[in-house]
Amino acid sequence: MTRVFMVDGNAIPVKKYGEKKTLRDMLKEAALPLIKRNSEISIDLVVVGNMAAPQFTQQNHLGAFLTTELALDGVPSLRVEAASAAGGASLYFAYRAIKSRLHRAILVVGIEKMSSTVTEEATSFMAAAADWEYEVQHGITFPGFNGILAQRYCYEFGVNPDDLLLFSVNAHKNAAKNPLAMFQKEISLEKAIKSPLVADPLRLYDCSPVSDGAAAVLLCDEETLKKTEVNRDNVVELVSSEIATDTITLHNREDPLELKAATVAAKRALKHAKITKDDINVWELHDAFSIMAVASLEALGLSEPGKAVDLAKEGEIAIDGKYPISTMGGLKARGHPVGATGIYQAYEAWLQLVQQATPQVDNPQYALTENIGGSGATVTINIFKKM
Ligand code: COA
Repeated sequence: MTRVFMVDGNAIPVKKYGEKKTLRDMLKEAALPLIKRNSEISIDLVVVGNMAAPQFTQQNHLGAFLTTELALDGVPSLRVEAASAAGGASLYFAYRAIKSRLHRAILVVGIEKMSSTVTEEATSFMAAAADWEYEVQHGITFPGFNGILAQRYCYEFGVNPDDLLLFSVNAHKNAAKNPLAMFQKEISLEKAIKSPLVADPLRLYDCSPVSDGAAAVLLCDEETLKKTEVNRDNVVELVSSEIATDTITLHNREDPLELKAATVAAKRALKHAKITKDDINVWELHDAFSIMAVASLEALGLSEPGKAVDLAKEGEIAIDGKYPISTMGGLKARGHPVGATGIYQAYEAWLQLVQQATPQVDNPQYALTENIGGSGATVTINIFKKM
């Protein structure tokens, strides 16, 4: 079986662009430089990860929209939707398309423009990732789901909700050095604790922001790589790409605090890569809410249940810790343009492995990205390896 390589990536700053940039502007800014820089590679498939462009921007049919704007007419091009795991899921399809030898060079784009609408409306569009009949129509939203999970977690394990904000302090610290991050500023724990409540016990600083973003990566097979003059120092291998699912409704789960799909997908991905979790040096986890960072660390076996906060207290999640997470700000502080997030994570994993990240993890060999749809109903795990 051929190996799958990521030869380049590009992304635009994550912001709320409002009327300053259209979906079209964002797409071109992210993808065109990548296509131009790699003009010797003939792209034979485009996969676009997106959660809700038809709702946020009234633009559906993104496959053809992309090939038109990127002058790739004739190239097959499709949108992949898996709520906020759409970016990670688009890598899953691209990885398999290359592995199956049906495609050789694939442009994978993640794009979302959420700021064309007000927060209340954006919140209701995102809620469609949960079960409409049993959950959403009764008024719950994603901050609400995560508030419930955080309450349960703190009650079960006797954790002080203020300590969950340590994850946001870490994310902001890293984002302060990332020129593409939405919040390029450090925050103190005291400031985070004083921020307004959003969904008790979660505060503003426990939440990722409503954001706009577009990121693109270029994947190819071994033969294509051999024929190109791409700088080998900038190439990483995508060694595993897995997805697992769990019940879309929280009430159907035996233990709502367990992200089972993350555990299953990570197990499969590590097995396929023939490595263990101890080989991973960069962990880009789906910290859409602080409680999701906590649940992810526990689901991936980096902490015992109820103890993830200790990793934050002991500095183990910091850029120089044992398990560096949110290394360029994560969803919390780089921003969370939902369907684009998985591709920002892939881009950041690549930057870390080719030693061009700011801030930089010391000489990493493997990076893992975890991208979640809903409250853990879809989880994608991608593992990248330095060449
Ligand atoms: N963290 C830190 N600061 C934030 C923030 C966040 N998540 N969201 C907004 N802000 C800041 C803004 O920068 C702004 O600051 P300023 O006044 O200094 O300019 C201020 O808070 C108000 O911003 P605004 O955009 O009006 O916020 P809002 O009240 O409309 O929305 C939330 C705040 C938390 C409700 C919103 O960001 C949210 O819903 N987040 C969750 C998104 C989500 O569910 N994603 C999907 C997860 S699966």
